[in-house]
Order: sequence, then C-alpha cells, then structure tokens
Amino acid sequence: MLTPSQRTTYAEQGFLVLPGFKRADELAALSARARALVDDFDPAAGASRFSTRDRSLVADERLLASAEAMHCFFEEEALDADGRLVVPKARSINKIGHAMHDLDPVFSAFSKGPALAALAADLGLQQPQVWQSMVIFKQPEIGGEVGWHQDASFFETEPITVTTFWFAIEDATLDNGCLWAEPGGHRGERGELRERYVHDKSGDRGRLRMEKLSTRPWPSGDTAVPLPVEAGTLIVFHGLLPHYSAPNRSPRSRMAYTLHATCATARYSPRNWLHRSAALPVRGFQ
Ligand code: FE2
Repeated sequence: MLTPSQRTTYAEQGFLVLPGFKRADELAALSARARALVDDFDPAAGASRFSTRDRSLVADERLLASAEAMHCFFEEEALDADGRLVVPKARSINKIGHAMHDLDPVFSAFSKGPALAALAADLGLQQPQVWQSMVIFKQPEIGGEVGWHQDASFFETEPITVTTFWFAIEDATLDNGCLWAEPGGHRGERGELRERYVHDKSGDRGRLRMEKLSTRPWPSGDTAVPLPVEAGTLIVFHGLLPHYSAPNRSPRSRMAYTLHATCATARYSPRNWLHRSAALPVRGFQ
C-alpha cells in the first residue's frame, strides 16, 4: 500500500505521516470504549501514578501485570500528596495499557486487519508481533510531557525491529501536545540507542529501571520538527527515532492510541519489561 516515495521517505526520515488512515466512526468507537473503561475503573483499587519523569513510580507489580490486562494509570498532577484525586476521574487518567488489542473486541477490531498487516509488511516487519496497545489521553490542562526517548528502549530486539503505530484519535496540535521528532534521527550515530528499560529479576520481586547506554544528547529545537496532525492520521515510526511530546496546557484533550510491534524473526530480549504468558500469546495484525 505504500508508494516507492513513501518507502524512501520512511527510510530517510524514520517516520511517515498517513492522513485519513482511520475513519471517523472507527475513531468514535475507540474513543467511546476507552472512556467506558475509565468509567468502569475504580480509582481506589490501587492504580499507579504514571510519570515519565520518574519511572520509579511505576516500577511495581501493576505495570508488569498490565502486560496481559487493561489498566488505567493516573496523570501525575491528578493526585495530591496524599494520593487523593484533585480532578474528576474522567480527567485523571494518563493512559490505559497494555493488552487491549488482544482482550477487547473494539480495540482488537481497530488494531488488526489487512490494511495494517499490509502496511507492516511494507515497512519491513517480518512476522510482526504486537506487544502492546496504549491509549494516551493527554488530558486538558494537566496532560504531562513525555520527554525525549526512543521506543526501542522499551522493546529491545536483536536486531532492533520495534516499530510504532501512533494513531491520532483527536486532532494533535502544537497547543495540545503533538509529537515532535528528529527527521533522520534513527540513522547512523544519531540513532544510537541511548537508554534501555530493563526488568532486573535478580532481587526478590524484580525491579524495573532505565539503564543509560550512551551520553549522546537528545535532539534540540534546531533539529526537531513538530508533527501536528488531524484525527484519523496514523504516524508510523522507527524504534530508534528520537521523539517527544510537550505537556498539554490547552483546554482540549489530545487522545492518541499506539501499537508497538517487533519482528518474530528478531530475538526479543528477556530483559524487556513486557512478556506474555502462554495464556495470552503475542499475535500479529491479522
Ligand atoms: Fe514513544
């Protein structure tokens, strides 16, 4: 489904913007289902606060368990120092993760099908394995920043194959925290993997931590470009592409949905945080 020039663009800049990949009714169905999951969620049931600035906050059993579940994670600014909600529940959730695509019919329908399978093949994914799905709410006023990172830090394979499928469920603008990326930042020395998020199982319960692999700086405002897109757009990007999104201080949310896939032909690191049991084996886009 990709043209030769789209393939060249992807190879050169490390990302590709595909407007109109999803229809309005598909976006509405996913959005409604995500909000229903939040409605059903009991905040008192021990949700984790999610902070990309301090990952130790999520280094707990709940994150590990979400590999095979649909868990809600709070915005950092949604709770006070005593853990009480300071905004309405519907506006308190940072994200839902990480197995909706295999557990929920609405998410599954959105996440699989011939169009995605063909796109994955065109991007060079051999025997794709879709490890995780995430709804990222980017709530009005309090939607947190997601600092510069490479998604390969979370899905290490040998060789690196992880590819991100980032769907704009709502318009993403400069004001509400659209993606920023460094064109070509996935290639050569610039694409060096800077960090690795590992599950160290040597302790009693195991521990999640970010390991620094390189002192290479993250891109600056000079080399990064914003990617404002309309709802329905799919942005696909290479696992080594540096990207980030600013906080949302606007009155409008910026909901996005992501899928992360690797090649079954590459070795999936046993140190990765996300693993599936035989009860819920990882699958492709079909
Ligand atoms: Fe990312």
